[in-house]
Amino acid sequence: MINIAIDGPAGAGKSTISRKAAASLGYIYIDTGALYRTVGLVALRAGVEPSDPQAVAALLTDDLSVELRFVQGEQRMFLNGEDVSAAIRTPEASLAASAVSAVPAVRAYLFDLQKKLAHENNCIMDGRDIGTVVLPDAKVKIFLTASPEARARRRYDELIEKGMDVKFEDVLSDMIRRDYNDSHRAIAPLKPAQDAILLDTSGNTLEQSVALVIETIRANL
Ligand code: DC
Repeated sequence: MINIAIDGPAGAGKSTISRKAAASLGYIYIDTGALYRTVGLVALRAGVEPSDPQAVAALLTDDLSVELRFVQGEQRMFLNGEDVSAAIRTPEASLAASAVSAVPAVRAYLFDLQKKLAHENNCIMDGRDIGTVVLPDAKVKIFLTASPEARARRRYDELIEKGMDVKFEDVLSDMIRRDYNDSHRAIAPLKPAQDAILLDTSGNTLEQSVALVIETIRANL
């Protein structure tokens, strides 16, 4: 199977670019952030503090079912049989995902699931540690980034479009803080694999970034 790893910080456009590139290449797109979000939701629903490693680890029993399914080609997440694809997109679920993703037992729990998906499918898998930890033998590894200002600008525009009252400076400082946390955590910190190709999307339109990613993958297959 052909596996492509795309990693990078929040707001670099990873998921949109990966989805479009996968559709164009005829691969499936796997969003691994959704797995961490689902475990975050497990903690929230259980009333457990998502940053408490022991309490979160205790939730990962044999009775728990976290499943990724493709419905009409789109990835959906199922928690104990319930479709939670929308529920994992709330701000609370984002925060919980970030907290549980630093718990070693959670990363171990999701590792096998990610390996199995990559083993069975030609795919583009996006995340933070795909090229470094999950698929160290991926055929092509891309580290997609953009300046904090460019990423904060995209996030700010999205929030304004949703009618939210936010200040650009706050979105930017939030982005810088999250980058720091993600790249300094003890387990699977965000960093490019040694053999990753670094692509900066700062000055690009979405279409330009998609074309650049497809071109990079084709040139390195
Ligand atoms: O990509 P996202 O924002 O949906 O990811 C949600 C959280 O999960 C984010 O805080 C980073 C974490 N994550 C991770 O640690 N490793 C991955 N492979 C994917 C996401």
